[in-house]
Amino acid sequence: MIFTILTLFPSIFESPLNETLIKKARDRDLLQFNIINIRDFATDIHRTCDDAPFGGGAGMVMKVELMHSAMEHVNRVYGRPRYVLFTPHGRTFSQETAARFSRIPHLALLCGRYEGVDERILSLVDEEVSIGDYVLSGGEAAALVIIDAVSRLIPDVLGNEASPVDESFGEGLLEYPQYTRPREFMGMEVPGVLLSGNHEEIRKWRRKESLRRTILKRPDLMERFQPTKEDASFIRQIMEEME
Ligand code: ADE
Repeated sequence: MIFTILTLFPSIFESPLNETLIKKARDRDLLQFNIINIRDFATDIHRTCDDAPFGGGAGMVMKVELMHSAMEHVNRVYGRPRYVLFTPHGRTFSQETAARFSRIPHLALLCGRYEGVDERILSLVDEEVSIGDYVLSGGEAAALVIIDAVSRLIPDVLGNEASPVDESFGEGLLEYPQYTRPREFMGMEVPGVLLSGNHEEIRKWRRKESLRRTILKRPDLMERFQPTKEDASFIRQIMEEME
């Protein structure tokens, strides 16, 4: 998968894209990154990227022509990607969006800065994405969040380290609790079933604990969850155990 990042601050991406999982995936050609400095498309002597808002008011606005020139360059050199613009008013990013993005061969991430972008940039992009209901000073941190969540869903990126199917949100549930050595820590014991070697019992325990955790910590997720017969029976047991 190819990520093209359009930013005014390319150096922000240097370390995060050169460590651990992403670094390994790049070395294996599973991921490719093109980092485009939007400022390179400025035409005036000061390489201006922002300007005062029409109508007045505080703050500066990112200019539309620069973004447009940068996108034309990307289309010419790499072929047209799907363009995603980070703004606080986009659709909220979720595991579902991550899965959808992981099936797109070439995704371009447009990082806005300053107080905002010229509204006409919206007409150039395919979608707007927010990573949550708070305001960042730019899209770069959001781009890194998306790259992390999407990359690990690309086949072979995780290798045999883990399966993304089992984990939180994969099926609309939170992940079950995990333990490793020691068996006892400050009086807290690892649940016996996990030491039993009985795979069917372990599977059932994990499913039930996944349900319990979701019901307790994120009841909102249960509204969209489609339980199987076995799940329904676990949910009844959990409710009884809570009485
Ligand atoms: N830019 C500013 N705030 C943002 C947010 N919450 N998500 C994505 N991009 C942003």
